[in-house]
Parts: sequence; structure tokens; C-alpha cells
Amino acid sequence: MEKKVIIFTGSTDGIGLLVMNHLVKENCEQYKFILPVRNLEKGEALHKELKVINEKVDITLMEMDLSSFESIRNFVKNFNQLNLPHLDILVNNAGVMLPSFQKTKDGFESTIGINHLGTSLLTLLLLKNFKKVSDGANNCEDQCNIVILSSEFHQREQLNFDKLLLTENDSSSFDTLREYSKSKLCNLLFSNELHNRLNLCKTTKNNIRVNSLHPGYLKTPINRDLSWFTRNIIAPIFFFGYGSKTEDTINGIVNLIENNSNHSGKYFSISKETSPSSFASNPENSKLLWEKTCELLSLNPELDL
Ligand SMILES: NC(=O)c1ccc[n+]([C@@H]2O[C@H](COP(=O)([O-])OP(=O)(O)OC[C@H]3O[C@@H](n4cnc5c(N)ncnc54)[C@H](OP(=O)(O)O)[C@@H]3O)[C@@H](O)[C@H]2O)c1
Repeated sequence: MEKKVIIFTGSTDGIGLLVMNHLVKENCEQYKFILPVRNLEKGEALHKELKVINEKVDITLMEMDLSSFESIRNFVKNFNQLNLPHLDILVNNAGVMLPSFQKTKDGFESTIGINHLGTSLLTLLLLKNFKKVSDGANNCEDQCNIVILSSEFHQREQLNFDKLLLTENDSSSFDTLREYSKSKLCNLLFSNELHNRLNLCKTTKNNIRVNSLHPGYLKTPINRDLSWFTRNIIAPIFFFGYGSKTEDTINGIVNLIENNSNHSGKYFSISKETSPSSFASNPENSKLLWEKTCELLSLNPELDL
């Protein structure tokens, strides 16, 4: 059986690490894993750990920092140089929750810069690599999947498309949860709009399905840079009330990676299809976010497949 090529971001910690461990234990021989990591040493340690679980695991580690457009473009260039016949699955899992105003290498506020702009650039640059209908991808098993990690925190915010990102002048009013929630709302809107646009050229050019999900709330190092009080007092209370079961989170993501029910353009809370906020459900908002995103990324808003 031909291996499915899967690019999985954020595999070195937290939820990504849990899902990778699961995939290697359960379905190792089904996949060729391409793991873009910002820290190669941490990636190599992960590679060793996964080899202990199953020595046949097929992993290519590659450097990629989502806070740098140049690094993302280099990753895509290096991925193309692998000359793989096509890409089957992209899991956009990497994400950050930051304690203060910071800027990406390209000068954007880092929470939205990494979680949304970096993730969107990566996705758009990789679209051409997915298996095409012309390559014979016309039945269910040949379909490709994009999974985008959002969060129920998206419900807390709306977006101002004229001022999507904070600037240095706003740094003193930076609010961790506000920017994080906005970035997760962006992830959801981007996923919906990508589905709409892929659908318009589906029958002729692509078999790509795209879905977003809230993976559940799991205690991970995502809050590593937040204050002692947040990590040691607020987070434990939050997880006591709202925490999810690890296996439910893993199953929710694996379900969308496999996507046997052929979903696209949907939002899931763990494994259950659910309705996002009214702001996130509004197609006008997904269109506006798409246009703004392409402008910030200096990309043509028309899909080039
Ligand atoms: N944990 C939750 O309860 C929860 C709830 C809802 C949604 N989510 C979403 O789930 C996803 C994973 O979260 P998590 O809790 O597993 O976070 P985490 O434990 O902090 O792991 C984040 C992963 O992303 C990578 N990453 C961070 N910044 C990066 C960058 N600039 N370039 C490349 N990779 C980068 C990290 O790499 P390093 O190993 O180098 O740090 C790590 O592998 C996120 O999108 C998050 O928003 C999480």
C-alpha cells in the first residue's frame, strides 16, 4: 500500500506530541511523516522517541518557524525538493499563547502572526502539492485532508478587519486571551473560506477537504510563558472544570485526519460536529478575513491550484 504523506506541525509538544505517539503506535506503516519543527534538537529527540515505539516509522524532520515567512517558504521549497509524488494530509496544529506583545520576523503581532498568518501561508503554499484529480484522485481513498486546530475560545471574540493585528502602539493593552481567541477565530474562518474556494474548483482540480476543530482542553505547555499565577492557580481550576480526556482529544484529531465520513467545511468540538459562533458562521466574515489575510501575505486571493 502506498504511504500517505502527512505534514504535521507542532509535533514536538502538547497535543501534537500525543497524536504523533498515537499515530506511530496504531497506524505507523500507513504514513510518511514530514515534521516541520522550529527546534531541530527537540525534533531529533522526538524522532528517537518515536523510533522506540516503532522502528519502522518513516519521519523526515525539517526546520520551519511559523514566525518567519522566509522560514515557511524555505520549508515548502525543501519539501518540494523531496520530490514526493504528492501530499495527502496537512495538520495545522502548531500554535502559541503569548504573555505579551511580541513581533514576528515580518513585524506582525506574534499571536495572530504565528497562529493565523504563518499557518495560512503554509497552507496556501502547499495547496499545489495535494494529489490532484488529474493524478487519478477521484474516489474517497484518494481524497486529501487539511485539519486546522481552532478552539472554543473563538466564541469570545469578533474581528475588526480594518485592524486585524495589534501594533506596537497597542502593546500596553495586550491581552493574552483576547489575541489568542482572535487567532483561533481566524483559524476557523480561514478553514471555512478555504473550503468554499476549494469547492468552487473541486470537480476539476482537487479533492481536498478542510475542517477545523476544537481539540478539547488539555493541560499542555501552551501556557509555559504565562504568569506563575495563571499557570499554577487559574489553569488548574480551569482544567478541573473544563478539562478533556486525552484519548477524546486524540480521537477527535485522528478522526479528521482519516475523515472517513468525508466532511469538509465543518467545525468540530472534539469529535462532534458543532456550530461555531454566529460571527464565525457568517460567510461574509470568512471572505473578508481571506482577503485581508492574502493582502498581509502579499498573495493573490484567487486560488492557484
Ligand atoms: N491545549 C489546549 O487545551 C488547547 C485547546 C484548544 C486549542 N488548542 C490548540 O491546539 C494546538 C496545540 O496546542 P498545545 O496545547 O499542544 O500547545 P503546545 O503544547 O504549546 O505545543 C505547541 C506546538 O507548536 C509548536 N510551535 C509553537 N510555535 C511555533 C513556531 N513559531 N513555529 C513552529 N512551531 C511552533 C511548538 O514547538 P516547540 O516544541 O518548539 O515549542 C509545539 O510543538 C494549538 O493550535 C492550540 O491553539 C489547544
